[in-house]
Amino acid sequence: MSCWSVGKSGVLQQVQVDMPIISNPQELLIQVQAASINPIDVHMQGGYGRNVLGAMRQLDALAESKITCNATTDEQPLVVGRDFAGVVVSCGRGVRGLDVGQRVMGVISPYKALGSHAPYVLAHKDNVVLCPPSLSSTECASVPYAALTGYSAAVVSGCHGDVGALQGIRVMVAGAAGGVGVSLVQMLQAWGAQVVGVCSLASFELLSSLGVLEFYDYQDNDAMQALTMERSFDLVLDASGCRDLRYLECLKTNRNASYVSLLSPLLKNTDAHGLLLGVAKSALELVQLNSSSLGKGRLVKWGYYSPSKQALAQIRDMMQRGQLKPVLDQVFPYSEAKAAYEHMQHGKHAGKTVLDMTV
Ligand SMILES: NC(=O)c1ccc[n+]([C@@H]2O[C@H](COP(=O)([O-])OP(=O)(O)OC[C@H]3O[C@@H](n4cnc5c(N)ncnc54)[C@H](OP(=O)(O)O)[C@@H]3O)[C@@H](O)[C@H]2O)c1
Repeated sequence: MSCWSVGKSGVLQQVQVDMPIISNPQELLIQVQAASINPIDVHMQGGYGRNVLGAMRQLDALAESKITCNATTDEQPLVVGRDFAGVVVSCGRGVRGLDVGQRVMGVISPYKALGSHAPYVLAHKDNVVLCPPSLSSTECASVPYAALTGYSAAVVSGCHGDVGALQGIRVMVAGAAGGVGVSLVQMLQAWGAQVVGVCSLASFELLSSLGVLEFYDYQDNDAMQALTMERSFDLVLDASGCRDLRYLECLKTNRNASYVSLLSPLLKNTDAHGLLLGVAKSALELVQLNSSSLGKGRLVKWGYYSPSKQALAQIRDMMQRGQLKPVLDQVFPYSEAKAAYEHMQHGKHAGKTVLDMTV
């Protein structure tokens, strides 16, 4: 089958890969109908995450080879794509509650060598849910990876797993019109938080259509300064992809105020300095940030994508109820993935960019 891979050269190209075969009884084989592009796919073109994800990939390959008695994968091409919607083609023996022919959506962890920018993918049953019937596959494919990342930042990092703690608190989402941001603002509102979005002026209308009542342009220095002076936020979730410490300054000065950034330096540092030094350098950066902010009662954390069966089921329920609406920026035919990646790289998108495999 013809897949999009970043290969050893780090350049996005179409490569031929063997059709995947179920070797783990907990897996499903899915014919992909649509898959979104996430920043990690774009960054992987330059080899991003090669040390950490590469090590995890090798461990995963070892575990798989134990199951299949088939030592392979060293030379596997790296197929990009972290989420998908499609139709179940076959199920492992251990899969319950999902069946051949059903339309599903889900995620593939970043360390898996075979991503979703491919005609077929293997996915673990815990990372797959039924598509809400009223939504198209392009819509469904746009949500899982970004929404799980937003969920993990808000719920796991932001409030120690207690969604109830978000009720009534004032939360800033920086990068509110991005792929993660559009899911995050909707989920936070459904959980009862008072959401304030920070985005570019061009995205005000989009945020307003998602029910956000208060938003600020990050290029408007006066507005941003006023927001900093107010120090009115209990939680700041930074999905801007920038290290803009103005957002940290917007927090209240009390013990429970937290700043969660999705721009963890871990993969970048381990790419540059190797595993041990990279992890140590990242830990030191976090300690340094906290040592200056803890004095003001604020906590700085990194947020990460984290797969969760329970979170994915909640995300699906929110989509079904219309509380989490997919926001598509542009849909490209599968054959035009290069143009879609360039579109993402230009950074002019709002919401999600999706590949459609059916055209
Ligand atoms: N740690 C993890 O596991 C993980 C997982 C997923 C994503 N991420 C990271 O999280 C970030 C968001 O992901 P995404 O998929 O939402 O990316 P995205 O779709 O590119 O969204 C980024 C958004 O940030 C906005 N932005 C740019 N500069 C800003 C600034 N100074 N202040 C506020 N907003 C700004 C952009 O708006 P304009 O286009 O209007 O400028 C854009 O809407 C990316 O950096 C991604 O790499 C991390």
